[in-house]
Amino acid sequence: MKTSLPSSVIQLINEIQENAPRNSNELAGIVNNHPVKREEILPFHTFNHAAKESYGRRELYKCNFFCIYLMSWCPGDFTAIHDHGTTQWGCVQALDDFTHRLYHFSNNYLSLIDSRPFLKGQTAAVYNNVIHMMGNAGKNNALSIHIYGTSDPQKQVARDSRIFYPELGQMTYTQGAAYMLHPENMPEQLHDFPGLDSAAREDYFNLTQLHKRDISTFKTLH
Ligand SMILES: [Fe+2]
Repeated sequence: MKTSLPSSVIQLINEIQENAPRNSNELAGIVNNHPVKREEILPFHTFNHAAKESYGRRELYKCNFFCIYLMSWCPGDFTAIHDHGTTQWGCVQALDDFTHRLYHFSNNYLSLIDSRPFLKGQTAAVYNNVIHMMGNAGKNNALSIHIYGTSDPQKQVARDSRIFYPELGQMTYTQGAAYMLHPENMPEQLHDFPGLDSAAREDYFNLTQLHKRDISTFKTLH
């Protein structure tokens, strides 16, 4: 397993530390000017992640103000529908093409507000209250860089994120990954929420059907 970070990641870390972004747009500007190179970060992939984890997640860097993850997506890998909890500012850099869904949550009800794809080379600002889902509906493995930050070193990032499970009509809070529902990583504290509107529900179950494919088939694809 590779352990020493490639130069494009080290440069990005240095730029974030020196510029101390105060919000997600400032961070996205830094990432746009100093993008991580796919060929450099590929050896750090976790396409061989456990099947119960609905995507691969590897921490590349962590300090008191921000952390950087490399996410690895086999065909059919998706997050659950989630927000970003205590994260004050963040950004995602797409190193490949992704399916993406953006939701609005009010009165305990989720509705789909955007289904435009998130494409290779794009960056997306992440806000704590953005509720979304992303994944790989393509035929090839995919990678993305995720940065979560805070301007308050007393507060950890990406804690208390909400995860929504339309399969159960319930939601919970996570202190880490936003994996899709799986019997082996069921959370203990579930709360009712009425669910999704009909269009969002049909769309969600169409996407999650993809995840039932045998992940081992795709482990060796880069
Ligand atoms: Fe997210």
